[in-house]
Amino acid sequence: MKAEVARAALELVTEGCIIGIGSGSTVGHFVAALAEFGPRPSAAVAASRQTRRLLEGAGIPVVELPVAGDLELYVDSADEIDAFGRMIKGGGGALTMEKIVASSAERFACIVDESKLVISLGEQAAVPLEVIPAAVKLVERELAALGAIGWLREGAITDSGNALVDVRGLDLSDPVAAEIALDAIAGVVECGIFARRCADVAYVGKPTGEVGIIEFGE
Ligand code: 5RP
Repeated sequence: MKAEVARAALELVTEGCIIGIGSGSTVGHFVAALAEFGPRPSAAVAASRQTRRLLEGAGIPVVELPVAGDLELYVDSADEIDAFGRMIKGGGGALTMEKIVASSAERFACIVDESKLVISLGEQAAVPLEVIPAAVKLVERELAALGAIGWLREGAITDSGNALVDVRGLDLSDPVAAEIALDAIAGVVECGIFARRCADVAYVGKPTGEVGIIEFGE
């Protein structure tokens, strides 16, 4: 399903554009499909070191975001996506750069297999937070005050050298409010709720090999 959906999303890519690319196994399929079938972007902005390596291996030049400027398209996957295009991301730990690159793009295409579709965010996935290491205990206490539980992802260090705290038990009935509340905790660099910058379109892979397309905000 991940390979099929990645290949279907190639139709969004304009030859010669500079594209933003997220992180994770579905994105790995997308980079492979891009290299094999095209269209060929002139360059890409990578949301993680892992994606940078994949792009370099595929012969696609990587540029930094300040050099690229605004992007026409960002392609990434998600841990969960709801019917409004709001997502939980960061299972792979690259959430901060993913949100920065996504927010610099005119269009966000989310490529997922159908197991990621949810009615309400938080049904399956914990919400990851990138946290300054010195603030981990403080953040855990602040989460408890919100009625949630956060725990350190042991051994995980982000590309920026920070810790990851996974959170369950949050009230996610208003994902924008939850995103703002989490980002307001001292020491939280970024949270994995993507509700303010949600997806514009989702390509959803099904077990039959078909790919559904959902346009949001129409
Ligand atoms: C990484 C992410 C990924 O998009 C998310 O974890 C989905 O990954 P995969 O494609 O491996 O299922 O947010 O930080």
